[in-house]
Amino acid sequence: MFYTPLPNDDGDVDSNAKAHHRAEKRRALKSHFSRLFAVLLLMYFAFTGLRSVLRLSKTTSFRGSLSSGCHSAQRNASTKAAGSSSSSLPTHYQLPSGDRIPSVALGVWKAGKGEVGTAVKACNNPNTRRLVAYSTDRQHLSPATVILTNEEEVGQAIRESGITRSDIWLTSKLWNNFHAPEDVESALDDSLNKLGTEYLDLYLMHWPIAFEKEPGPDGNSIYAENLSENPYPTWQKLEEMVEKGKVRNIGISNFNIRRIQNLTANPLKVQPAVNQVELNFWNPQPELVKWSKENGLLLEAYSPLGSNNQVGNTLRIPEVKNIADKLGITPAQAVISWHVQRGTIVLPKSVTPSRIEENLQVTALPQDLFEKLEAAAAAHPPQRVVNPSKSWGLNFDVFEY
Ligand SMILES: NC(=O)c1ccc[n+]([C@@H]2O[C@H](COP(=O)([O-])OP(=O)(O)OC[C@H]3O[C@@H](n4cnc5c(N)ncnc54)[C@H](OP(=O)(O)O)[C@@H]3O)[C@@H](O)[C@H]2O)c1
Ligand SMILES: *[C@@H]1O[C@H](CO)[C@@H](O)[C@H](O)[C@H]1NC(C)=O
Ligand SMILES: *[C@@H]1O[C@H](CO)[C@@H](O)[C@H](O)[C@H]1NC(C)=O
Ligand SMILES: *[C@@H]1O[C@H](CO)[C@@H](O)[C@H](O)[C@H]1NC(C)=O
Repeated sequence: MFYTPLPNDDGDVDSNAKAHHRAEKRRALKSHFSRLFAVLLLMYFAFTGLRSVLRLSKTTSFRGSLSSGCHSAQRNASTKAAGSSSSSLPTHYQLPSGDRIPSVALGVWKAGKGEVGTAVKACNNPNTRRLVAYSTDRQHLSPATVILTNEEEVGQAIRESGITRSDIWLTSKLWNNFHAPEDVESALDDSLNKLGTEYLDLYLMHWPIAFEKEPGPDGNSIYAENLSENPYPTWQKLEEMVEKGKVRNIGISNFNIRRIQNLTANPLKVQPAVNQVELNFWNPQPELVKWSKENGLLLEAYSPLGSNNQVGNTLRIPEVKNIADKLGITPAQAVISWHVQRGTIVLPKSVTPSRIEENLQVTALPQDLFEKLEAAAAAHPPQRVVNPSKSWGLNFDVFEY
């Protein structure tokens, strides 16, 4: 099986989740038989810690992002909203490796310096421990030269907070100019060193686009066609990193269906654990959500609230406010719950401790309200927050081609 939502820590699962779990199991047995061997192999590496991190690249701004979130492995039914203890959504999903990844993780793109530490410390408060998140920023000195300025800050904040490594889920990403197989391991080692850890829980190919390692004389990135059109050599190196124990799970980000199929048509030793993509009310991608579910690829929703500039609008959507009013939850909780109910991991960014806490309290939405929000999201032309195609000088749209 590819992934399954897991019961809550108290063993309480709503009937939908149970039915879904059984259906997943049956389907998995039928269609993913061949993957079972890989799953078993990877189970060997399984242990309990979990957490998730992300990054983004906005090359037009000098500052891009790396976000990371940490969560304690045991979240003690944190997905329950107050007053609705009978309905619940999965707190975790199970990856092909057997690892449990939290369904809601904290993203921290655009978090300022110093805010990382605040967020990590919120992690270590006994009340919020299960939620934790911290953020990092990446500084683009030029479009092709990316320096992960804050991985060190993240590592330091984790150490200062006293959180044990196995209690957090740590994700990082491979940047575009390190896709050449000979460059992957040193890029990973650099992240591990800066974070002060021996392994990552998840390592993602940030984009399905490769650049040459060095920028051109004008400082711009140079598109590397072969490794973009065929990411398998990069993936094989990532598989090797799993074998070496430097990462426990590997995945992709910003891949469309054609690109996923091109990658998975190869004889993979390790299947992609997740695809991290933009999903929000303004860009809900119902086809990708459906396809991914049918094909057992877990999605992670980035910019789930519509990102900084649109979060206000998102929280004012009538269908969102209606859910919030009816269930006695906040609009942000309504949106985040909608994402989990769609079957995705959600990565809301916040550096505000009270919001971090708020964002982790999700609850199952009544089906009619869920469908109304889903329909409203699909009723307007999709609009992305993140699309660097033009700023990278590509003569195609990375999401369309
Ligand atoms: N893979 C990729 O290419 C990629 C691309 C983009 C983003 N990402 C990841 O996705 C994460 C989230 O995306 P994002 O930062 O673009 O957008 P987002 O999570 O949709 O929105 C973040 C904004 O929402 C505000 N907010 C959070 N919770 C709130 C609440 N409960 N009530 C009111 N406002 C709230 C935050 O404010 P405060 O922080 O001030 O509380 C911030 O301004 C990023 O951190 C990054 O890790 C990945
Ligand atoms: C979860 O609950 C158990 C029992 O109440 C407690 O011992 C444990 O410390 C809690 N874990 C977290 C992460 O809060
Ligand atoms: C790209 O692949 C083609 C076909 O295999 C090969 O001829 C060409 O040399 C490759 N280009 C680079 C830059 O490696
Ligand atoms: C993926 O696409 C590239 C470029 O078209 C092609 O060379 C490669 O063979 C494809 N991979 C598979 C496994 O089909």
